[in-house]
Amino acid sequence: MNFLKWIIPSRNEREVKKLRPVVAQINEIEAGLQKLSDDELRQKTADWKARLSQIQDKTELARALNEILPEAFAAVKNACRRLTERKTEIVVREHPLLWEMIPFDVQLIGGYGLHSGRIAEMATGEGKTLVATLPIYLNALTGRGVHLVTVNDYLAARDSEWMGAIYKFLGLTVGCILHDQPPRVRREQYNCDITFGTNAEFGFDYLRDNGMAARKEEQVQRGHYFAIVDEVDSILIDEARTPLIISGPSVHTYDEQYGQWKPLVESLVRAQERLCARFLSEAEALIKKLNPTDGSNPQNSEALEHEIGLLLFRVKTGQPKSEGLMKLLEDPENLKLMNRAELDLHKDQKKVDLYREKEELLFAIDEKSFEADLTEKGRNFVSPKDPEAFVLPELTTALHEIDAGPEPDARKRMEAKTKVQQDFETKAQKIHAISQLLKAYSLYQLDVEYVIQENKVIIVDQHTGRLMPGRRWSDGLHQAVEAKEGVEIERETQTLATITIQNYFRLYQKLAGMTGTAETEASEFFDIYKLGVLVIPTNEPCVRKDANDAVYKTRREKFNTVLNEIKQIHAQGRPILVGTISVEVSEQLSRMLKREGIIHSVLNAKYHQQEAEIITRAGQRGAVTIATNMAGRGTDIKLGPGVAELGGLHVLATERHEARRIDRQLRGRCARQGDPGSSHFFISLEDDLMRLFGSDRIVKMMERMGLEEGQELTHPWLNRSIQQAQKRVEQHNFQIRKRTLEFDDVMNKQREVIYGFRNEIIHGEDVRDRLMDIMEEVVVDKVAQFTNAESEFSEWKTRPLADWVNLNFPIGLPEAEILKAADSGKESPVPGSLFDGLSPAQFAVCNFISDGVRKAYDLKISFENPDALKEVERFTILSAIDRLWQEHLYEMDSLRYSIGLRGYGQRDPLIEYKAEAFKIFDELMVNVKTEICHNIFRSASSMLAFENFLKNVPQQTLHQAASAFGGTSTASSGGAQARPSDVVSEAAAAVAEKAKPVRTGPKVGRNDPCPCGSGKKYKHCCGR
Ligand SMILES: Nc1ncnc2c1ncn2[C@@H]1O[C@H](COP(=O)(O)OP(=O)(O)OP(=O)(O)O)[C@@H](O)[C@H]1O
Ligand SMILES: [Mg+2]
Repeated sequence: MNFLKWIIPSRNEREVKKLRPVVAQINEIEAGLQKLSDDELRQKTADWKARLSQIQDKTELARALNEILPEAFAAVKNACRRLTERKTEIVVREHPLLWEMIPFDVQLIGGYGLHSGRIAEMATGEGKTLVATLPIYLNALTGRGVHLVTVNDYLAARDSEWMGAIYKFLGLTVGCILHDQPPRVRREQYNCDITFGTNAEFGFDYLRDNGMAARKEEQVQRGHYFAIVDEVDSILIDEARTPLIISGPSVHTYDEQYGQWKPLVESLVRAQERLCARFLSEAEALIKKLNPTDGSNPQNSEALEHEIGLLLFRVKTGQPKSEGLMKLLEDPENLKLMNRAELDLHKDQKKVDLYREKEELLFAIDEKSFEADLTEKGRNFVSPKDPEAFVLPELTTALHEIDAGPEPDARKRMEAKTKVQQDFETKAQKIHAISQLLKAYSLYQLDVEYVIQENKVIIVDQHTGRLMPGRRWSDGLHQAVEAKEGVEIERETQTLATITIQNYFRLYQKLAGMTGTAETEASEFFDIYKLGVLVIPTNEPCVRKDANDAVYKTRREKFNTVLNEIKQIHAQGRPILVGTISVEVSEQLSRMLKREGIIHSVLNAKYHQQEAEIITRAGQRGAVTIATNMAGRGTDIKLGPGVAELGGLHVLATERHEARRIDRQLRGRCARQGDPGSSHFFISLEDDLMRLFGSDRIVKMMERMGLEEGQELTHPWLNRSIQQAQKRVEQHNFQIRKRTLEFDDVMNKQREVIYGFRNEIIHGEDVRDRLMDIMEEVVVDKVAQFTNAESEFSEWKTRPLADWVNLNFPIGLPEAEILKAADSGKESPVPGSLFDGLSPAQFAVCNFISDGVRKAYDLKISFENPDALKEVERFTILSAIDRLWQEHLYEMDSLRYSIGLRGYGQRDPLIEYKAEAFKIFDELMVNVKTEICHNIFRSASSMLAFENFLKNVPQQTLHQAASAFGGTSTASSGGAQARPSDVVSEAAAAVAEKAKPVRTGPKVGRNDPCPCGSGKKYKHCCGR
């Protein structure tokens, strides 16, 4: 295998080889550029920019860029040479830094890879920051703006200042988006040729621009042409697990539930602990029986083994983080028995035994899928009188039974149905809250998954160890943890705008990335982002020595050895970087080192700048640095004087990470640019990775070797086996991310439509035409709904139609007029038009109503200040879109959740979700348009204009208009003549206050069918 690899170059190697002639060409051109003056060199930028900014066509532009690539890369290289030769000092983050970099050949190849829209995998210290300047310069010549995306603000600022030297030298402008900049500053940064920033800043700006800005002037971005993502795996894979969300306080909230159920869940958890303790001691007794002290063979050992396995499995299901269990599982024999029992339970298709086992518990936790469910016993525990209180009724059947039942009165049937629905919702909320609390107690540990600071629960990113203040777990989980810890339960927030990182980056016409570790995730990059990976050879051959993984039975033994190795290597004076997978382990190790009197630094990825400074010192003689996985990424570790002779930096890892990539990243921190260095990974069978995904074979192997306490196992075969476990987790996580994305794709399409609609309104000079279209569309929609092309006029719902018209438009339409208009209908609508499919009668009714609306609107115009009215129109449309879209986001969230609940049957939840989502989106669009019509006649640029309009509505319509439109108000507001745009919202609000339609007849619930007969819920119809 390795031999073959050696004689047959891989595809990657061939690709890299193909680029060698381009490199030669760049170098040749660069030699020629050396004789130019600075101004002559800069002139090239201006000339290219003038030419390229004229090209509109994408393919033509791409061709032109490829054409000038060698010369443009040469220009960058030449500029680097000039800065180096002149010993130019650049101030980077307030420290002067001497420029001494001229791109190596491999860096030119990396630059080419980025320009061609791929991920350049280049090891740490290979100078990716510099590599990016090549394609950035080239592509910025188009004038379309190139974005460079970093993992944190510190790196964005550092790199924009550092690399800014080159861009400025060549005559381009550079900007940087930082967290606290106001929109004006942001806009300036985006208007630069090149803009640096974090993925979150870019993403949030996009959401604000498209989902929230009310005017063109408020938008800051100017397009998505080309983005290069630094540490691309960290951003496009790790960060991509959580979408970007802008939220505000929720209108719908169930927060009090968590506090309310806390005592009950606490006693439930305690009862379960007692139960599990019993199972454990039973298991221990049986284990003794299985291994009699006198060395005799026990009878029916097979049954015993099975029984032990079941007991252990029960504890794992009931109390996955139980210390007693951990202890028992330290013995690989026990682990094997447990895994075998679990496997047996899962073999049965119907899972009868599995359910029976779970029923021994009060609740069951599934650590892999992150679920928690009450069992029958548990339901009896929490609600002894009514265990059914925690069973969701079958809603459809219940509703159907009422419909088919004996109750003759429609209203009573309706009431019964509403009650069933309400019960269902309350129950679902209750079950949800309890299940979240169970998870909070059973799976989330203080100082591992989260920390408490200033009375707040702060999430710890499990991949980086980074604290994530401000981020909250969704779906009430955060509230549940807050309740558990007894800190203030913060109000649930509601999504105002959201996008996944995946979908944000898919907006770019061209995308590229760089990192030290992409290869293992190549298929995901390709699947999701269409990004290929090009592995760039290192500038100097890598001489790092990687030791085989050392495996121990227990964590305790593992850490003892880790400590010994640190002491030993530290004594030699070699610097050591210790990687951990969580903050907790970092701190534990730090305590151990302190006890030994070893001076060290701990990095938790909390303060980027400070950390960058610490990490640059991590290569000095005698330095010991403990870091969670990704702390200090992006800053390379240079060896101090004399360290290379000692063997360079030693990297020691205390655990294997779920993803191989993260381990490679850690390992890659040493032995940069041909330096010496070494790495060693330590593992125990108690590590999560091994517990959850490690295979039986490792355990067996340990058995065969007859491993004793404190003994270590190493073997190349073992490394592979552990990698297999990692691959399984990677696959598993990829599937989850992909699934999330499939769900989000549905939302993404909807978001595109809504944002497109918004932008059309924001950017349009005059939205009145669009407004008129909208009114017409709504009228057609309603006419089609209340009338029928086939049936007699007498069967038409003309009464509700007239009501609807009069409720929304001040045209005082008598019912009889509708029929009169219908009678007059002779003409068929033009095929393909908005009216296609309507009968001549319906067509005539539409025209009749629309004419009336248009006339009323013309009248309104005549009293308004034309410019101010334009603003009112824009505002009315946007606020309808925004209000209902946010409401829609909430509905989509609930849909997602309820589909999850329904997902038991044979149906694919995704297909169900798509169908439902399509339906509610359709409704949303109709509702938005209806709301616009409803509000436009109720909004005015000033109170005076509004009153004048109402006074002049034709007399016969006035009495109807008066009730629906707030009458002839005399409460003229003092500020009515003030700046029109300010008054808009005030007037609109004042009007809305008065404009509540006068309800006649019985009160209707928001979720009841609308009395107008539309068949929609009242809240989506007349009740809005
Ligand atoms: N062509 C060059 N000549 C000399 N020094 C260089 C060159 N390119 C980069 N360097 C130096 O190499 C160091 C590492 O560069 P950089 O931080 O860009 O690496 P990186 O590939 O981004 O690493 P990481 O994976 O840690 O982010 C820097 O100190 C930089 O000055
Ligand atoms: Mg870097």
